[in-house]
Amino acid sequence: MTATVESAQDTRNPAGPLLPVVGHDTLVPLVDGRQVPYANLDVAASAPALKAVADRVVEVLPLYASVHRGAGYLSQVSTALYEAARRTIGDFVGAREDDLTIVTRNTTDSLNLLAGCVPTGADGEPGRVLVLDVEHHANLLPWQRDTNATVLTGAATVAATIAELQEELADAVAAGAPYALLAVTGASNVTGESLPLDEIVAVAHAAGARIALDGAQLVPHRRFSLAESGVDYVAFSGHKTYAPFGAGALVGRADWLDTGTPYLAGGGAVRRVRTTETVWQTGPARHEAGSPNVIGAVALAAACEALAALDPEEVRAHEGSLRRRLVEGLESIDRVQVARVWEDAADPVGVVTFTVAGYDPGLVAAYLSAEHGIGVRDGRFCAHPLLGRLGFDAGAVRASVGVGTSGEEVVRLVEAVQALVADGPGAAYDVVDGLWVVTDDPRPVPAGSGLAGLLATAAAGFLADAAGCVPDID
Ligand SMILES: Cc1ncc(COP(=O)(O)O)c(C=O)c1O
Repeated sequence: MTATVESAQDTRNPAGPLLPVVGHDTLVPLVDGRQVPYANLDVAASAPALKAVADRVVEVLPLYASVHRGAGYLSQVSTALYEAARRTIGDFVGAREDDLTIVTRNTTDSLNLLAGCVPTGADGEPGRVLVLDVEHHANLLPWQRDTNATVLTGAATVAATIAELQEELADAVAAGAPYALLAVTGASNVTGESLPLDEIVAVAHAAGARIALDGAQLVPHRRFSLAESGVDYVAFSGHKTYAPFGAGALVGRADWLDTGTPYLAGGGAVRRVRTTETVWQTGPARHEAGSPNVIGAVALAAACEALAALDPEEVRAHEGSLRRRLVEGLESIDRVQVARVWEDAADPVGVVTFTVAGYDPGLVAAYLSAEHGIGVRDGRFCAHPLLGRLGFDAGAVRASVGVGTSGEEVVRLVEAVQALVADGPGAAYDVVDGLWVVTDDPRPVPAGSGLAGLLATAAAGFLADAAGCVPDID
């Protein structure tokens, strides 16, 4: 099957990026010796820096010095910059007056931190936490390791999944062992789909449970407010929010955070230390021991400011139109299947997962890079339970878009997949240590990268370690 006239015309209508990102015009080599602008369709994994973020980092670096207890002038400026960034980050996700904003490394860090703060149940056992099997491992494993977690298999529709959650939460109340927390994704990193927040918050709160939102894929793409939604905690990552400088955040209710296990033991997290006794801080400091990531926090705050200045409806329209073009274009190609978690999910963010029958997802991703200069992700996206339930145990390919993506980039992807299905790959590929690579890859490494030789040589040795979420690894 080929694309319909209507959708083909739609996919040719180019839309420019909404905000400039660093690297949008970076040229990358193809196996045939040509160079093309890199089409970064892997922003759900890590998004490129907004230009505004990079500019801000350059601006504050000359002001950077040790923070908190430093008496020097620049130490005090840096401390003020760090604390101002904290406020901006909290405001960006609609923090309530008495919420805490803790600067972490990323979403994984934030959710691990929160898992250590869930209060024990009335029986003295670890608190009960409910999660669905649709979650990224970051919103699954911390609960399984540190709390008394139940993983519920989601249903085929949003309505049925919410009914399941409601029943499970109510049964737990009736049994005298209520859940302390429902941890749920703001948007799936596999399909971009989500459950309606207002309904989820209502069912959790009706059963006396708090709600933690994995905002990794939501916060960079939709306006979100703790205060307006009633969500108790949100976790998100700077590197997915166009601020790849190593900071993330956990924002939410102070009481659990002020009494929970200090996430890191060390300097800054304590009021008083004796050899036999330690008095821990309350507030963000309790969980931020060690020297903080000032530049990361300032960068994340700059991204928050730049995103907050956009009209949220414009972002939704831009990313929604790119996603529609991807889905319609891909679904019009024979042998392509697009993944869905729920038949009736509304308003998905720009994440599209698909397979091409007859081609291993790793080969498709290697082909898109080597022959078209397109960056996508393949594997099971750190969501093994969901990929298994949806029948994608062998993995899939994921394309994702954001404010820095243009219409031309998604058109390139659709046309490249059409060419693969019509003609097969042009180059030869091998599997090395479980990963698909171009045979005798001739692509050079970028000048000035500090790497030497051809891509295959530069990557050798990393391949075996680079497999965290690829299909072969369990
Ligand atoms: C939905 C979701 N949650 C959590 C994470 C983990 O994010 P990080 O690697 O920044 O900790 C990801 C990363 O892909 C994600 O997509």
